[in-house]
Amino acid sequence: MSKNLGPEWVKSAVFYQIYPQSFYDTTGDGIGDLPGIIEKLDYIENLGVSAIWVNPCFVSPFNDAGYDVADYCNVASRYGTNADLEKLFREAKKRGIRVLLDLVPGHTSIEHPWFKASCSPEKNEFSNRYIWTDSVWHNGGEKWASKMVQGHCDRDGAFMINYFCSQPALNFGFAKPDQPWQLPTTHPDAQATWKAMRDVMRFWLDAGASGFRVDMAGSIIRNDPDAKEAKRFWGEVREMLDTEYPEAFIVSEWTCPENAIPAGFHADFFHFNSGYYGLLRGEAFRAGPGSEHFQTGTSFFDAKGEGDVTLFMDHYLEQYRKTKNKGYISVPVGNHDLGRINYRRSVKDIEIIMAFLLTFPGTPFLYYGDEIGMKHLPNTPNREGGYQPRIGARTPMQWTADQKDNGYLPIDTSETAPNVAEQDEKKSSLLNITRKLIDLRSTEPALAADADFEVLYAEKNKYPFVFQRSKGRKKVVVAFNPAAREVSIPLAVSAGEMLAGSGAKIADGQLVMKGQSYGVWALI
Ligand code: NOJ
Repeated sequence: MSKNLGPEWVKSAVFYQIYPQSFYDTTGDGIGDLPGIIEKLDYIENLGVSAIWVNPCFVSPFNDAGYDVADYCNVASRYGTNADLEKLFREAKKRGIRVLLDLVPGHTSIEHPWFKASCSPEKNEFSNRYIWTDSVWHNGGEKWASKMVQGHCDRDGAFMINYFCSQPALNFGFAKPDQPWQLPTTHPDAQATWKAMRDVMRFWLDAGASGFRVDMAGSIIRNDPDAKEAKRFWGEVREMLDTEYPEAFIVSEWTCPENAIPAGFHADFFHFNSGYYGLLRGEAFRAGPGSEHFQTGTSFFDAKGEGDVTLFMDHYLEQYRKTKNKGYISVPVGNHDLGRINYRRSVKDIEIIMAFLLTFPGTPFLYYGDEIGMKHLPNTPNREGGYQPRIGARTPMQWTADQKDNGYLPIDTSETAPNVAEQDEKKSSLLNITRKLIDLRSTEPALAADADFEVLYAEKNKYPFVFQRSKGRKKVVVAFNPAAREVSIPLAVSAGEMLAGSGAKIADGQLVMKGQSYGVWALI
């Protein structure tokens, strides 16, 4: 095990994200479940991925799709039981697949027993488990449940929220308290929260989980501008992992690798920034379908060819240099918070984007359904706090052409709706191309998470985008031309076998790429 980079298995790993309510339903209630994931393990194994991340599957009122946890140590009955989850760990392990759970440390649901106890006017063990002001007439501003007077219960005080108003913020303490009701991080009650969260992690690691994706990891400590105390908390967690669970992996949703990696995370997602939107989504995608700008912005990976890869790369390279050899940056092309990558795009566009996902440095996470090019469904109504654009990317996995709408979330019923069964049969399908790319990613050392990375061509408002990856003497060059026009640039490398892609050629010091092409070559 490398001391800084964590478990060895991560280096060649490809992760597959499963939104459990939409993956596979075995009970007929319309909602996917854990036995459904177990039933589909053969499919997952055939994809070639080495680990899955399951979005929160714990007891919850589901006001935020399970990110409002009411019991960290029990599976929601709609998904099955703890025994089912342990079975998933075991069955996945038999196939060499690891399972990451989703840890939501920053807040719970208002239904969590800790919060209910905390609402009591009588002092008890949980009075300080959440952040309360000392009077209903005082609220703390922006992140309070309401900026108006807020009486929630008999307790005289207002509580801070961490996301939706039904998600009260857990109290990990304030780095710089400036009110009497703000506890320092060293206060025993704040420390009790620190311990409680480590205990939750231990509970699931002991049960067979291989680690966690950590929700809003940078949000837990208040008044912590340089993340000093957050780094102390996660540093202690990392110490615990290194000594007690050295094979475990933690990836943060912090989207600030320069903080998350020194804090102790093995990897950090990097997607909530405008550079990322300029790379993959169009600047305005976040605006949502109610807005005239919904996905009308320009991104580098659009066939229009009007994007600018430097919007992303300038930002990325700064983070890459700061974290190189210490941890990984994970650039997802989809997840449950982003609109589906296949919105107003063609299958060819998606293939090029898949090649990007699986050749770029760091730990690749593939979002369920993207491997078949499932489309963003912009008219999907809100369900369980999804809202657009998130909810349009959370619809049920399309397994077969005759799959029925299950009443939970709509499915794509268009003529061109993709499904697994059909693509499985077709050699040239996106599914089979993705499988090949995953295989290349997991077997080619020069594409490993920690393999070196050097940009060969990334120019403002220009195409293509070219980089080199290398490990020891193994080197590959990777080039993308998502634009619909042919491009060529001088490129002085001696390319050998083409490992993936088509429509692109390196010869006589020149890279020539047809419109909408990509290539991965071994260097000699
Ligand atoms: C980030 C999660 O990915 C998102 O789905 C959730 O709504 C918020 N955090 C709050 O937990």
